[in-house]
Amino acid sequence: MLKLAVLVSGGGTNLQAIIDQIEAGTIPDTKIEVVISNNKGAFALERAARHGIPAECISPKDYPDREAFNDALLARLLASGADLVVLAGCLVVIPEKLVDAFPNRIINIHPALIPAFCGTGYYGLKVHEAALERGVRVSGATVHFVDKGTDTGPIILQKAVEVRDGDTPEALQLRIMQEAEWKILPEAIRLIGQGRVVVEDGRCRILGQ
Ligand code: GAR
Repeated sequence: MLKLAVLVSGGGTNLQAIIDQIEAGTIPDTKIEVVISNNKGAFALERAARHGIPAECISPKDYPDREAFNDALLARLLASGADLVVLAGCLVVIPEKLVDAFPNRIINIHPALIPAFCGTGYYGLKVHEAALERGVRVSGATVHFVDKGTDTGPIILQKAVEVRDGDTPEALQLRIMQEAEWKILPEAIRLIGQGRVVVEDGRCRILGQ
């Protein structure tokens, strides 16, 4: 049984895609132990609660400094017994000690084809605004392991999505979620659960493909 901790910050549509595929059996032998949001108002917490999944808020606002927040987050993740930490629309900067505690056991979904439109400052709608500003004809999404950089870890899966004339950032964001994110994030979890993702020399190899 693969045990997940899912970190969220907002609407939680990627969390919902994971929940739906676990319930449908397309991600077998996998359980979400806890959903943690840095934001009390995140609808993702409500989504988790509706499915009977423990959901809590750990917010930097409730701690005297960043280090105390980081320690609380790490302690909760360790206590959850999670094998894999999934960043599903999580906008918190992951501290180095968390990466050390979960080496190649934290994955992130990024709404662009890394190395395009990624790194510090590229999150949420800003990514799609930048893609439209540059005029790319193709964007997409990437699932990668989290290392100590921002969006620099080994790439597990990517999926391209067409950019259409007249796209707004919101329209592009929704198409990338529907056609890429909600597919490749659950798929990456399934592959990891099956032991089919191997990291060698900073790159991923998918066994049996
Ligand atoms: C998603 O598009 C995700 O890729 C993005 O935030 C959105 C969260 O949506 N993540 C990042 O930009 C991380 N750098 P959701 O809460 O509905 O899953």
